[in-house]
Amino acid sequence: MFRRTHNCGELTDKDIGKNVSLAGWVNTWRDHGGVVFIDLRDREGLTQIVFNPDKDKKLHSESRKLRTEYVISVKGKVGARPEGTVNAKLKTGKIEIAVEELEVLNTANPPPFEIADVTKISEEVKLSYRYIDLRRPAMQKNLRIRHNTAKAIRDFLSDRGFLEVETPILTKSTPEGARDYLVPSRVNPGKFYALPQSPQLFKQILMVSGCEKYFQIAKCFRDEDLRADRQPEFTQLDMEMSFIDEDDIYKVCEALMKDVFKKAAGAEIVTPFPRLKYDEAMSRFGSDKPDTRFGMEISDVKDIFKGTGFNVFKTAVEGGGSILGINAKDMAKVSRKDIDDLTAYARECGAKGLAYIKFTDKGAESPILKFFDKQVVEALQKRLNCEKGDLALMVADTDLKLAREVMGSMRLHVARISNVKKSDGFNFLWIVDFPLFKYNAEEKRWESEHHPFTSCKNEDIAYLESDHQKARAKAYDLVVNGVELGSGSIRIHNQDMQQKIFKIIGIAKEEAEKRFGFLLKALSYGAPPHGGVAFGLDRWLTLFTGSATIRDVIPFPKTQKAICPMTDAPSIADERQLKELNIKVIK
Ligand code: AMO
Ligand code: AMP
Repeated sequence: MFRRTHNCGELTDKDIGKNVSLAGWVNTWRDHGGVVFIDLRDREGLTQIVFNPDKDKKLHSESRKLRTEYVISVKGKVGARPEGTVNAKLKTGKIEIAVEELEVLNTANPPPFEIADVTKISEEVKLSYRYIDLRRPAMQKNLRIRHNTAKAIRDFLSDRGFLEVETPILTKSTPEGARDYLVPSRVNPGKFYALPQSPQLFKQILMVSGCEKYFQIAKCFRDEDLRADRQPEFTQLDMEMSFIDEDDIYKVCEALMKDVFKKAAGAEIVTPFPRLKYDEAMSRFGSDKPDTRFGMEISDVKDIFKGTGFNVFKTAVEGGGSILGINAKDMAKVSRKDIDDLTAYARECGAKGLAYIKFTDKGAESPILKFFDKQVVEALQKRLNCEKGDLALMVADTDLKLAREVMGSMRLHVARISNVKKSDGFNFLWIVDFPLFKYNAEEKRWESEHHPFTSCKNEDIAYLESDHQKARAKAYDLVVNGVELGSGSIRIHNQDMQQKIFKIIGIAKEEAEKRFGFLLKALSYGAPPHGGVAFGLDRWLTLFTGSATIRDVIPFPKTQKAICPMTDAPSIADERQLKELNIKVIK
């Protein structure tokens, strides 16, 4: 192999006349009137190399045996490309290398898909050959941005006195609420470790240890149903600090985001980020992670329909619920089938139906108009700001929270199908004042909205005795363009308060002892006031890189079925291993 003098992305017309050697993969191979042109690719780019039969017949015939993805090393002279063949899109587009020596370092099987175009390749195939997929410049770029982001994070936090501390992977269940991945212990038959859903308990223990400012770029594991922005194994930027309140967290996170977005994505972001109360986010956007890059806000229209004869609306209102509406801009032209599809979507989200009124040249149109006076329709049009050409969509339900969530989903759905114009850039937003508890209707019990170590807002502590559903948490989420990027809280450091919370969510003393006893014990040995936050690094990178899925920014991700097609994990364990672990598989 010739010692490389340059990489494939750096030679320009300033290097003309130099003797160079390059190494890389055969990206493309072309034969133009007997002359062989190859684009040689390495991590940094492409360089055209040329084999001319008039100069060296033997070398030329060797070059004809090369195939795409062969690994070669060449020596030659940098020359100017003939006029008309300059490629202005490439940094190396003005030059080419007249090859004088060639060494084939390795042959390659024909790749299963063309590296230049993977748009039609299934996820399964791409992930089976992830090493080929990662050769794509777009993926190389993602790896680099991931590295730069991690580096910028480490530099920023180290400069501010944070220590990166590793926490165990073989550990005990954490309180994030997803299913655990369990690992059997051979030396402790019948016992299992849980892989951490986050370093939550250990970072709190580090505060008791006097660490004061902790961070970690940490792997987390959650056995949950996967979606576009979820992976079973993902990475958090996890942080915790002592002697702080919410404002300290906002401040350090905003400065961190500003610095890292600038360094890793070249993006300027404006701080401080706006703060939106959970209740307001739910009433205006029907979501605790609103996409604020477009309007189409939800309006409560209950008062407008008060006393009208439409049974569906009447029942909802009389049942203590509400009627919510949005303006689907420019969508009055929808067909019967479009309306059926919208209704089906609303039902999938949990609605009992979807009411609509079109505002067209002929005025208002809808099968439910017969129930309302003209003034009612006019008031609705005004409330929703509907102009000619717009479509009002309404959902009525006795359950206000459900109606809001349905409308929140409808808002995003309508924006998607109508290609609504969204503002550019990153819309950062803190969601604050979350409720401390939520009701789990399935299990008929109250549970923590965040996790059971989250503090109550000082002014709401009295509610813990009387009206705990009114208590708000010292918890916050960071949302960007409709994605929950991070989440955190100020923790409880006081034993009595902790017991009160456990009581409300029905965790008995023995259970608390069994699940989190080690944390509770640690907290009783002089825990400082503390709090923290964790950001989903993969989601963050998905935003940075404008990727379609979280899988594009994770070097070796799993499929939607939590499978790694490249290694074929998970796979069947052999009998001997199972026996050693005292495990019997019941099929
Ligand atoms: P939480 O459970 O909200 O909080 O997680 C924090 C952030 O991690 C990201 N995230 C995920 N990313 C990819 N795939 C997943 N399956 C996944 N699940 C979560 C999200 C989320 O905002 N210990 C607490 C934090 C704290 O209180 O300090 C925690 O883990 O971006
Ligand atoms: P129905 O009385 O069930 O025939 O419904 C009349 C119209 O009201 C249909 O267009 C339904 O989709 C709509 N509708 C039914 N239930 C609701 C609801 N809960 N909210 C809004 N519209 C509804």
